Amino acid sequence: MNTSEFFIGLMSGTSLDSIDVVLVNFPQGKPKLVGSLSSELPNHIRKQILQLNSSGDHEIEVLADLDPLLGKLFANSCLALLDKFSIDPSVVCAIGSHGQTIRHRPHKGYTLQIGDPNVIAELTGITTVADFRRRDLAAGGQGAPLVPAFHYQCFHSCGRNRVIVNIGGMANITLLPASLDEVVVGYDTGPGNVLLDSWIAQQRGLSYDADGDWAASGSIHTALLEQFMSEPYFNEPFPKSTGRELFNAKWIQQQLAQTLSDNHQKPMTDADIQATLTEVTAKSITHAILSHSLTEPEIYICGGGSHNKFLLDRLSLHLNTQVQSTDVLGLHPDWVEACAFAWLAYRTLNHQSGNLAEVTGAKGERILGGIYLA
Ligand SMILES: Nc1ncnc2c1ncn2[C@@H]1O[C@H](COP(=O)(O)OP(=O)(O)OP(=O)(O)O)[C@@H](O)[C@H]1O
Ligand SMILES: [Mg+2]
Repeated sequence: MNTSEFFIGLMSGTSLDSIDVVLVNFPQGKPKLVGSLSSELPNHIRKQILQLNSSGDHEIEVLADLDPLLGKLFANSCLALLDKFSIDPSVVCAIGSHGQTIRHRPHKGYTLQIGDPNVIAELTGITTVADFRRRDLAAGGQGAPLVPAFHYQCFHSCGRNRVIVNIGGMANITLLPASLDEVVVGYDTGPGNVLLDSWIAQQRGLSYDADGDWAASGSIHTALLEQFMSEPYFNEPFPKSTGRELFNAKWIQQQLAQTLSDNHQKPMTDADIQATLTEVTAKSITHAILSHSLTEPEIYICGGGSHNKFLLDRLSLHLNTQVQSTDVLGLHPDWVEACAFAWLAYRTLNHQSGNLAEVTGAKGERILGGIYLA
């Protein structure tokens, strides 16, 4: 394969904020970001996806509407990116499409990402690689997280221990020990932005807490924090992965009800709850990182949570070091995930594995995804 050829990475994450597309090439196997584009998901589609995220009536009918429709939106996003950079589709080797997760049940060996790759290949005329997670599940893994192999490729340093923290809807960490004798560890630590988005949407009708300003105006409520942190997921051993199935609006309500049932509790405002939810993200990430006793690691953040100043301050405080953005390492935090899926497509077409067995718990490393030829 000609390594100067382009790949597209296509990502639509748990937060349902946008469709992210990147154009990447791989000189010497290392990713180089050439261009990027983010398009907002239309509100009615976001609502339909949320509806499909939990069991309900006529699921297959809703799926029949959404699967091809998302495929079309994904394809259009790719075409818009190519148009923006005046790139002819014929020079793009492949699109790596993550798809939109509507179920993630690793304990059942099941996960489902939709956005029909047949439609993407048909409308773009570009070979599309998709459905990356299920081969890992078939091999006994969690199917997630898949980004640690990419983090290793991009961000490993032989001189310094590093931790990459991706704060999307959920949060995941990748521990990159400097020593090549030590294994890479990675897993979902719990919620990233999903609870923060959910609470501010419910209370203030906003889609996210810009810069964490609302949270910063409140005070962390100790008893509520304790209740939130009693969630068993935080102490489960890895490999582990999670999603909206566990961390959602209902989860917040249940923990709140539990705390408020004690009449002696200090009163709390909605902003206090936002502050406390932000602290849950910060504490659960910190708890996970510190449980590995990696010596003085550098901490780099990517994903939308890297823009939440209050969250970053809390992380820096708990980790006793100034956390930084992956920008410092040469890759903008907003595009790391999409680049990872371009890289996974590149690996698959080169017949190379994409998972790390020690991360997902799979029996071995596997070539991931289905290939839909142009
Ligand atoms: N300026 C900002 N201030 C605070 N939070 C922000 C800001 N910009 C983005 N975010 C948060 O980042 C979220 C989007 O992050 P991202 O796109 O990484 O998540 P995602 O789409 O769920 O991806 P994935 O789950 O695959 O990691 C938004 O929903 C919002 O909560
Ligand atoms: Mg996103």
